[in-house]
Amino acid sequence: MNKTIKPIKSINAVMTVPGDKSVSHRAVMFGSIANGDTEITGFLTGDDCMSTISCFKKLGIDIEVNGEKVVVHGKGLHGLKAPKELLDVGNSGTTIRLISGLLAGQDFNCRLNGDASIQKRPMNRVIKPLSQMGANIKSTNDGYAPLEITGSKLNGIEYKMPVASAQVKSSILLASLYADGETVVIEDAPSRDHTEIMLNYFGADIRNDNGRITSKPVKELYAKPVAVPADISSAAFFIAAGLLTPNSEITITNVGINKTRTGILDAFLQMGADIKIKNERLAGGEPVGDIVVKTSKLKAITLGGEIIPRMIDELPVFAVAALAAEGTTVIKDAQELKVKESNRIATMIEELGKMGADIEETEDGMIIKGGQKLHGAVTYSHLDHRVAMSIAIAALNADGETTITDADCVGISFPDFYERLENCR
Ligand code: S3P
Repeated sequence: MNKTIKPIKSINAVMTVPGDKSVSHRAVMFGSIANGDTEITGFLTGDDCMSTISCFKKLGIDIEVNGEKVVVHGKGLHGLKAPKELLDVGNSGTTIRLISGLLAGQDFNCRLNGDASIQKRPMNRVIKPLSQMGANIKSTNDGYAPLEITGSKLNGIEYKMPVASAQVKSSILLASLYADGETVVIEDAPSRDHTEIMLNYFGADIRNDNGRITSKPVKELYAKPVAVPADISSAAFFIAAGLLTPNSEITITNVGINKTRTGILDAFLQMGADIKIKNERLAGGEPVGDIVVKTSKLKAITLGGEIIPRMIDELPVFAVAALAAEGTTVIKDAQELKVKESNRIATMIEELGKMGADIEETEDGMIIKGGQKLHGAVTYSHLDHRVAMSIAIAALNADGETTITDADCVGISFPDFYERLENCR
């Protein structure tokens, strides 16, 4: 599908965005290995989370999906069954990396694969620590999917993370539930901690002492209801739209504002953005609030270090906002962008370039001159949901219309993105 986005004059909206992708994946995975029924509300029915559901159904778990309400009939830590067929993770890096850890310590074997993009995403980052734990996990494609896992006895390890990655950390923590002895993961920069929060909520024993995360063996997990907050990564597109569009005010309700995810808010605030958080509260151990954004004059900043993992998925739309700022914005330490659903440094520079943007590519990020007015163009999503949505936000304040080809990939994380964008008019 192609999508054409017309410029917008102003936005005044009170809205929601769909459920958090990271939390939705985890609710299904952890619910499957808990005792009892996990009732999930606000579930993201995007393609990635549906891939997770399909994998756990193949592992013998009964899962009822009723729109955003999902019930997972958990079978306990040792209740999964050998799948009869290959587990297809589609486009989802979170699914393949997390379930690799979960499946490494089972008493059966399985095979995992996904789409063309998944087959280009590095898996050695999970193969290495899981192998140290005694897992028998092999790539049949030189460090990329497909993966073959032969269930094995696991042992605890101490592992210092070479890259900040919540997927790798979570994979090790899931394997730790099946390991003899305790497992320690050490991270330099904090990555999202939804696994730690939700596993503990289900009865696990995971502690974080200044980046030293220790998981002690537990006998069982127990199902509890999970209310998934709205995804700050999806809200980020509308936050940027509100900041960049003249005479605008947008309120996005019930958004997850876990500190490990709010780098985008911190970065925009540093740039002088008018963003306020109201009604802060806790839901299932996760902080949530309503985000109120008004049109703002942004000033360029230099971004690097610990903030990068806290806004890794928002960097594409952050780049769009930086184009409108005063001064030159530098993004450093963001080489992880190269191994997302697409190489997001290259794809964003290429597509925004078609709209007239001049962005310099660096080894680990971008240099973005501000004050650039964009024009409409025919662009390509590279089948990357966040690239497509970032282009759409850039298009709102460009001269003329912008077409996004292969635009339906937004279904990965935000199925009704274009409808909600149109509702802002
Ligand atoms: C995710 C972790 C991040 C993020 C991805 C979701 C998760 O990936 O980019 O969209 O749910 O754990 P990395 O672990 O590769 O940084």
